[in-house]
Amino acid sequence: MQYLLGLDVSTTGSKALLIDETGAVVASHTTPHDLSQPFPLWSEQNPADWWSGMVRSIRAVLNQIDDPGAIVGIGLTGQMHGLVCLDAAGTVLRPAMLWNDQRTGAECDTITQTIGAERLIQLTGNQALTGFTAPKILWVREHEPDVYGQIAHILLPKDYIRFMLTGEYKTDLAGAAGTSLLNVAERRWSEDVLRELVIPAAWLPEVHEGPQVTGVVSAEGAALTGLRAGTPVVGGGGDQAAQATGVGAVEPGIVALTVGTSGVVFAPLASYAYEPDGRLHAFCHAVPGQWHFMGVMLSAAGSLQWYRDTLAPDENFGVLTDEAQDVPPGCEGLVFLPYLTGERTPHPDPLARGAFVGLTARHTRSHLTRAVLEGVAFGLRDSFELIKSSAAGVVNEVRLSGGGAKSPVWRQILADVLGESLVVAEAIEGAAYGAALLAGVGGGVWPDVPTAARQTVKLGERINPGDAASAYEPVYQLYRDLYPALKPTFHALAE
Ligand code: XUL
Repeated sequence: MQYLLGLDVSTTGSKALLIDETGAVVASHTTPHDLSQPFPLWSEQNPADWWSGMVRSIRAVLNQIDDPGAIVGIGLTGQMHGLVCLDAAGTVLRPAMLWNDQRTGAECDTITQTIGAERLIQLTGNQALTGFTAPKILWVREHEPDVYGQIAHILLPKDYIRFMLTGEYKTDLAGAAGTSLLNVAERRWSEDVLRELVIPAAWLPEVHEGPQVTGVVSAEGAALTGLRAGTPVVGGGGDQAAQATGVGAVEPGIVALTVGTSGVVFAPLASYAYEPDGRLHAFCHAVPGQWHFMGVMLSAAGSLQWYRDTLAPDENFGVLTDEAQDVPPGCEGLVFLPYLTGERTPHPDPLARGAFVGLTARHTRSHLTRAVLEGVAFGLRDSFELIKSSAAGVVNEVRLSGGGAKSPVWRQILADVLGESLVVAEAIEGAAYGAALLAGVGGGVWPDVPTAARQTVKLGERINPGDAASAYEPVYQLYRDLYPALKPTFHALAE
């Protein structure tokens, strides 16, 4: 039997997932790590914690097999956009600034002015967003010149694990596309953007396709982890591209809908395209020669988590969502806006805020719960509408995954609000599974990523839109009017 290892450095933990050549899960272990938010808007982690957690997780899964030499490939995935700064000796210079760090508003303005708003979107596929990597580099230059002066290498979070395992400074294209420094159409670093932002090209890791071998586990990496020295490590992918790979969204027409803490609508593209206003992300896919559009809602299941923790802490999610079943669609005039942590798609606005609108004394807890489920579905529909009217073209199948996909009530609301049939993908191992599939392609188990996905991805129940779908149309239109109407208030309140 041959095995594949997927390694995922997420915001909450370092996970190792071992699968076999049939795609069956052999072992999975996650070591949690802490998040530091020392000042408003800051979000940081210590790369040493990722690595020590990953060593522990790798050792835990290796306990389940006799011979680590039977692992024919390792794939990396993880949180995107984060900045790890290293000196010439490979020593970490400051805590990593993460994807959800929002301190770089001024640097985003500088980037947009320097490159030009339209040209930036055309070249990098995206607006400059506070979470992305390039504005973080400018922030360090402005605020920590001592650190900046020592930088010799910058890496994304998962590439720090690659560096510790192999000694290589390399990254994958899906991850690199989230830096604002990649020429996304040409799948290489943008000389223009680097020159104009005065960021040394020599600092950047070499870019590779998702299944391409980037190096092998070094003797030192082997001694620390128990892996076999010489085991190939492939490019892998940012967490969203790897998640999409793991549910088989690896060809145009198959769209991945992930309702996790954040909500993501991910549509593969056969050629590069960008949304002219940059409301959708346009990134390279982890599948060679493919790109993808992506809409990101920052608080999807995160909204329900907040709601439960704050208003019904003793209730489990199943009970809460089940009691929402009997409330009619539209919640008798109650609408929830899910912008609890600001928003990205379609309103890239860190100051967007959440709201219940239309509350009356008649509304019960069940109404509030259903309003949360519907509000998240409306927000995801915003991304869907953008994708359907984009170059991504026809949507043949929507594959649903993430914690939110577990609730039958929420699944039906999503199908009704989106007006789409949804197929549940059994993806409990998330992005790590996609990373393991990419490793399998690099390790010769499968010839290409679509074949790997076809042979391994398991699909479950199909949920069709029901009678409620038409009832949602007028409510969705009201929902759409709320953000523009409330934006000035949100901004004033945030001040
Ligand atoms: C993608 C994104 C998140 C992070 C953290 O654009 O910001 O998926 O990668 O999970």
